[in-house]
Amino acid sequence: MKKILIINGPNINMLGIREPGIYGQQSYAALVDYVTGVCREHGLEADCFQSNHEGAIVDRIQAAYGDADGIVINPAAYTHTSVAILDALKAVSIPAVEVHLSDVSAREDFRHISYAGMACQTTFAGYGFDGYRMAIEYLLEHCI
Ligand code: DQA
Repeated sequence: MKKILIINGPNINMLGIREPGIYGQQSYAALVDYVTGVCREHGLEADCFQSNHEGAIVDRIQAAYGDADGIVINPAAYTHTSVAILDALKAVSIPAVEVHLSDVSAREDFRHISYAGMACQTTFAGYGFDGYRMAIEYLLEHCI
């Protein structure tokens, strides 16, 4: 069975509590249920990881080498700052797709740059949970 690693960065564990007008009412547990269900529908194994720590995300990407077939990543705030996450994605060369719950292109200027996105096949932003489905289906159709 092919394995998709779904990585969520800082404050995504606060979904449902943090700025619900931007990120929605549903919890991180609901997101895990959702992506696990999408993967199951497609006969894929979902491995969900969330961390508030940049180095832990780098470690998890490195650990995926030789293990995961695709990566769906919402690096959250580290999107806009982390060359380390960009380099980790490049290092393992696992096909990756970037997701954001909100439409980062329509928000503050500092959210318009994405380092991690430079190592990703494509980005889905502004579709809420559906963006994760789009990312999983993109990987399936184009990359794995
Ligand atoms: C986010 C957008 C980022 O700018 C922000 O820092 C987040 C979440 C999103 O999913 O919309 O934490 O990645």
